[in-house]
Amino acid sequence: MTADVTAAKSVSLHEARQLCDAPPPFPFGWFAVALCHELRAGAVLTRQFMDREIVIYRTKSGTACAVEAYCPHLGAHLGHGGEVCGEELRCPFHGFRFSVQGSCVYSPSGAPPPAARLGLLEVREIHGAIFVWHGPAGQVPWEIDAPDDESEWHMVGHTVRHVHGHPQELVENSVDIAHLSTLHGLRNAQLVEPPIFDGPRVRIGYTYTQPTPWASGVDKMRIRIDGLGFVFDEVDTPGFSLRFFPLWTPVGERDTIQHLLVSVRKRGRSPVGKAFWRYVEKMSGPLILRGFVDQIKQDEPVWANKKYLRRPAIAEGDGPIHAYRRWASQFYPEGAAW
Ligand code: FES
Ligand SMILES: [Fe+2]
Repeated sequence: MTADVTAAKSVSLHEARQLCDAPPPFPFGWFAVALCHELRAGAVLTRQFMDREIVIYRTKSGTACAVEAYCPHLGAHLGHGGEVCGEELRCPFHGFRFSVQGSCVYSPSGAPPPAARLGLLEVREIHGAIFVWHGPAGQVPWEIDAPDDESEWHMVGHTVRHVHGHPQELVENSVDIAHLSTLHGLRNAQLVEPPIFDGPRVRIGYTYTQPTPWASGVDKMRIRIDGLGFVFDEVDTPGFSLRFFPLWTPVGERDTIQHLLVSVRKRGRSPVGKAFWRYVEKMSGPLILRGFVDQIKQDEPVWANKKYLRRPAIAEGDGPIHAYRRWASQFYPEGAAW
């Protein structure tokens, strides 16, 4: 189900039932708001983020910034006519200019009022995506443990979609081993690297068999999770390795934007030359991305209609659902009841 359906603000009886036991809608963490190449130098973009709009921009020298949308002077929306002037953001209404630290550095009508400060959000650029921090005032953000061997990898596909669901439940699928065979048709799914919960991170690994157009051997999938907004799955197939980045960003209650990125790397020594391999990557990118999206589409009817159960009836081979939920509780205000 897409956001076309979820955009309606009134909550139906059905949705109220879905929401009553659910975790708070906007967990703390890093969440993707754009792909890096969308935000060229001088660009100003508006993004939906945690039930409000924020503005992201890139200065002429290349610094990516994220700010609250409304100018502290008289409330103009900086995403509608705001302009990058060198290293500053200029408001369209009266021309106040703001530095990347958020302070007003110029006002055409006198000394900049000290109270004229833009609300700043922390930004990181990781693996081709721009992440913005959402957290309690004063909390120092943790850093995403991004893969550092990117030079051999090539991004071959990306897309942006809406999903009806809470990010905690969407990420929960990564530890829900039982659904891999039932819903996705993977065979012999086995937990070969039991989960390691380490602060805001989880590491877990599976093997399974999945017939594909190019092979039908045993695939190994390692999953790395940093908070509820950054997930990356690395899959070794007999021919090459794939990285899938499903990046979840809540924009409303049970309304989540999903940035999907796919990278590929050749495995081992291959008889094909570099130029031919590039050609293979280019041609296979859309196919791999479509397979990834098709798999997520299998989950969507479940996500869109399920209810969050505080006390699920977990069977022995279901995977570490309870441990995952205990881990996820760190991303909400202390004492939040759910
Ligand atoms: S509202 Fe932005 S400068 Fe006046
Ligand atoms: Fe799934």
